[in-house]
Amino acid sequence: MLLRPGTRPRTFAVAALLGLLAVFFLPVGQADASAPLRQHAAARGKFIGTALATGPLSNETQYRNIAATEFNQITAENVMKWDSIQPNQGQFNFSGADTIVNFATQNNQQVHGHTLVWHNQTPGWVQGLNATAMRQAMQTHISQVVGRYADNPAVVSWDVVNEVFDDNGNMRSSFWYNTLGLSFIADAFRAARAADPNARLCINDYNVEGINSKSTAMYNLVQSLRQQNVPVDCVGFQSHLAIQYGFPTSFQQNLERFAALGVQVRITEVDIRMQTPRNSSKDATQATYYRDVVRACMAVSACAGVTIWGFTDRHSWVPDTFPGEGAALIYDENYQQKPAYTAVHDALAEGGGTDDTTPPTTPGTPAASNVTATSATLTWTASTDSGGSGLAGYNVYREQGTTDPQLGQSSTNSINLTGLSPSTQYQVYVRARDGAGNLSTPSAAVTFTTSEGGGPTGPCTAAGTVQTQWNNGYVIQPVTVTNSGSSAINGWTVTFTLPAGHSITGSWNAALTTSGQTVTARNVSYNGNLGPNGSTSFGFQVSRPNGNTQTVSGYTCASP
Ligand code: XIL
Repeated sequence: MLLRPGTRPRTFAVAALLGLLAVFFLPVGQADASAPLRQHAAARGKFIGTALATGPLSNETQYRNIAATEFNQITAENVMKWDSIQPNQGQFNFSGADTIVNFATQNNQQVHGHTLVWHNQTPGWVQGLNATAMRQAMQTHISQVVGRYADNPAVVSWDVVNEVFDDNGNMRSSFWYNTLGLSFIADAFRAARAADPNARLCINDYNVEGINSKSTAMYNLVQSLRQQNVPVDCVGFQSHLAIQYGFPTSFQQNLERFAALGVQVRITEVDIRMQTPRNSSKDATQATYYRDVVRACMAVSACAGVTIWGFTDRHSWVPDTFPGEGAALIYDENYQQKPAYTAVHDALAEGGGTDDTTPPTTPGTPAASNVTATSATLTWTASTDSGGSGLAGYNVYREQGTTDPQLGQSSTNSINLTGLSPSTQYQVYVRARDGAGNLSTPSAAVTFTTSEGGGPTGPCTAAGTVQTQWNNGYVIQPVTVTNSGSSAINGWTVTFTLPAGHSITGSWNAALTTSGQTVTARNVSYNGNLGPNGSTSFGFQVSRPNGNTQTVSGYTCASP
C-alpha cells in the first residue's frame, strides 16, 4: 500500500522506524511515498540537506529529530566559519564544528564544510595583515581546518571560497582580493587539495542561479581555473530566492552549462522568502519555487543534491537580514510541515507520481499599459490549475501568422515586455503553463502599437567572439555593439543567423527574439544609449547538434 504524503505519521520515532523498514523491504531505487525526504533523495542518488545551528541542536528535541530523520546531508550554518574556528591567530576552537560532525556521524549524514575563505565572519586580525602574512594565514587556516577532518568519512566536501563576485560579475572588492589579487582563489584551492586529496572542493555564490552576467563570470572563472589545473571540483548555487522577485527560469540550463565544464554542481543554501505575514497564496507560490529548485537538480545528473538553509521558520537568518521578509523554510515556527515541504517531498519522489495531463484554465485577456517605443506592460486575470502539478507561470506570444514567437515568460499574471520595435502594432496573447508542462488554450489577444522611437538615430556595428565551446554548444561573449556615427543613439537592433540545427539556450544584456533561424537582439533598458564611438555588449549561449562545429558569425546592427 502506498501512503499518501499527507498521511505520513507525525511521530518521528515511528517515521524513522518505517523509514528503516522501508529500506529493508523496498527494492533498491524505490522509496515508499510516505518516506522522509532523505529516503526519496537517496533513491534518486542525490542528497537532501539542511544547515544546522548548534543552539537549537542542543536545546530542542524536535529540531534534532527532524534534522536527523529528514536529511542526509548537513552544513554548519555558522560554526565552521573562520571567526568560530580561529577567532585569534593560532587559537583554534573546533567545539562547534565537532558537534555538527558528530551529529552527522551518528545519523549517517554527510557534512559539507562551509566555509574556508570568505569576506564575512572573518576576524579583524586577518583583515589587517599584509599580503605575505595574509597568504600564510590563509594557508595555515585551510590546512588546519581541512586537515582536521581529512580522515573523517562524514566530511566529504568544502566551500573553499565563498562569494568572490560582486553583483555585476566583477571580482568583489574584498580584503582578500584587494590584498592578494585574484591569485588567492587558486592558492586556496591548492591548499585545500593538499590538506585532503579526497575532499570535493567547491566555489559558492548567490544570484548565480539563472544565466546572467554574474553566473557567466563564475562560469568563466571556473573554466579558466580548471584550464590551469586548479582543483575546482564543484560549484555551489546558494539559491536564496524570494517569491516577489520571480523564479530564475534558466536555472536548469545554467546548471547544465556548468556541468559541461566537468564540475559537480549543487544547490547549497536554498531558502525562499516572502514578505511577511504568510498567507496560503504565498505559501503555494513558495512551494512551486521549492519544487522547481529540486526539479532542476533532479534533471541534471551532475547535480549532487539540494541543501536547504535551515528547515524551520523558527530558526532562520532571513527575518534578521531582510527586514519585513521571512517564512522562507519548509516547516513553520511550530515544526509543522508547510506546502513547501510537500513540494520538496514530491519533487524528490517524482517518477512514481501520477501523470498530470489537465491544462490550467485559460488566462484573461491581457490589458496593455505603459506602452513606449520599445516596451509595454501586460496584466491579465490569473489561471488556476487542478491537475496536481500546480500553476507554473505563463508564456506570452505575439500573433504572427503560422508560428507565433514567444515574447517572454512570467511566473505572475503580469509581464514587462522589452525590446519591442518602435511604431509597430503588436497582437499579444498569453497561455498558462503548469508544472507538468501542460499549456492552457490561448487567451484572447490584446492589440497595442508602440510609440515612435524619436530621438537621434545613426549607424552602428556589431562583432561577436566565441568565448567557449563544447561538443554540443557554445557561448558568444561579448557581442560588442558600437555607435559608429557622430551623434548619440538611443537604441540598437542586432540581427544574426543561426546555423541549421542551432538554438538559443540563454542570453544576457539584450532581449532576443527568434523567428526561423533569424535572431533579433535588442538593447534592454540600461544599454540602449550610446554616445559617438560608445559601445556596450551582450552575450548568448547556443546548443547545436553533437559533433557540429559551426558557430554564429556575421552580425548586422541598426539603430534604433
Ligand atoms: C548566514 C547565517 O545564516 C547567519 O546566521 C549569519 O549571521 C550570517 O551568515 N551566504 C552564506 C552563508 O554563504 O554562510 C550565510 O549564512 C548566508 C549567505
